[in-house]
Amino acid sequence: MTTNTISLSLLTLLLGSPLLAAAQSPFPTLDGKPPLVIAHRGASGYMPDHTLEGYAKAIALGADYIEPDLVMTKDGVLIVRHEPNLKDTTDVAAHPEFASRKRTMQVDGTSEEGWFASDFTLTEIKTLRAIQPRADRSAAFNGQFQIPAFEEVLALRAQKSAETGREIGIYPETKHPTYHQQLGLALEKPLVAALSKYHLNRRAAPVFIQSFEAASLKALRKMTPNKLVYLLDAKDVRPDGSIDANQPYDFVVSGDKRSYADMLTPAGLKEIRTFADGIGPWKPYLISWQAMIDPQTGKPADVNGDKVIDQRDMTLLAPNNVIRDAHKLGLLVHPYTFRNESKHLAANFMDKPAEEYRLFFAAGVDGVFSDYTDTALATRNLMQQGQ
Ligand code: G3P
Ligand code: CA
Repeated sequence: MTTNTISLSLLTLLLGSPLLAAAQSPFPTLDGKPPLVIAHRGASGYMPDHTLEGYAKAIALGADYIEPDLVMTKDGVLIVRHEPNLKDTTDVAAHPEFASRKRTMQVDGTSEEGWFASDFTLTEIKTLRAIQPRADRSAAFNGQFQIPAFEEVLALRAQKSAETGREIGIYPETKHPTYHQQLGLALEKPLVAALSKYHLNRRAAPVFIQSFEAASLKALRKMTPNKLVYLLDAKDVRPDGSIDANQPYDFVVSGDKRSYADMLTPAGLKEIRTFADGIGPWKPYLISWQAMIDPQTGKPADVNGDKVIDQRDMTLLAPNNVIRDAHKLGLLVHPYTFRNESKHLAANFMDKPAEEYRLFFAAGVDGVFSDYTDTALATRNLMQQGQ
């Protein structure tokens, strides 16, 4: 451990104590309320991403918000998928009738081979079934569930809110908005129309719309009073803990040279505040991690000796000022993505996903995108009880 690193217990103590005393709450969020649990792609730790069944499970587990990513079909229908390319999350490859649709497309400047949503009608999409894209998660539900249209998720949200008496929020993301706009399938207007149809096109509605592209949020700002969240991505974390940031694709197209990291400086945050209500950064933009360098190879060391280099070999650094700077401007902070699997947990967490939530909750985040709603919620409940 270097002087830049800090143990989890000490960090929690340092962050928690003064704020606890001041706010009488374990959660130094912008509004003083407990942080939101956002069910990332549904109950994606347990079931295939983005299915009605997965969203229903996330709601049953107690999620505050459910999160659908949006792409568009050839006939202009918003469907719920993480990528326009259907190859990893559906059984399209097993449908001989669609074999000829396989092709190569440029998605945000990168060449991809597969089957693309914009080549299929909704009726055709409905013949596909969802599959689990991650090799380390259960494939037991593969082939069972349909690909939902966004409106089906909105209908489920309304139905479950009525059934449970709990107003469940929805957190849609415009996926690759410039790419869709260039295909003549812009996402923003149909998104707002769908929200309007379900009486959610109101400032006070339990809705956050998110995007990795400022241009999409700026367009939405003119169309809806809904709360907007700017997502910030990166390529990787370097061994020294610095962030290897990439550029938003709308910036690439417009010639803006800034990266996502530039948007997290005080000046960048001030600009975000002009078109968004919050930020959704990748976790290391708030609390980064560093590798131990193997003196023999000069490369990151396999600290736990399991023959792979992953999060378990990383040590957390102290939190930076991004949460504080964002809160000063009135911006909410919703980092992503929280996962239970050991390979996603830094050494400090000692294989306990609850410890990661505790750290970020104590640091003041206003919500978390989680693949495991139940773990996030259980940790939040314990902290609320002073445990
Ligand atoms: O939506 C928040 C965050 O999860 C963004 O990442 O890749 O899951 O859309 P992704
Ligand atoms: Ca290892």
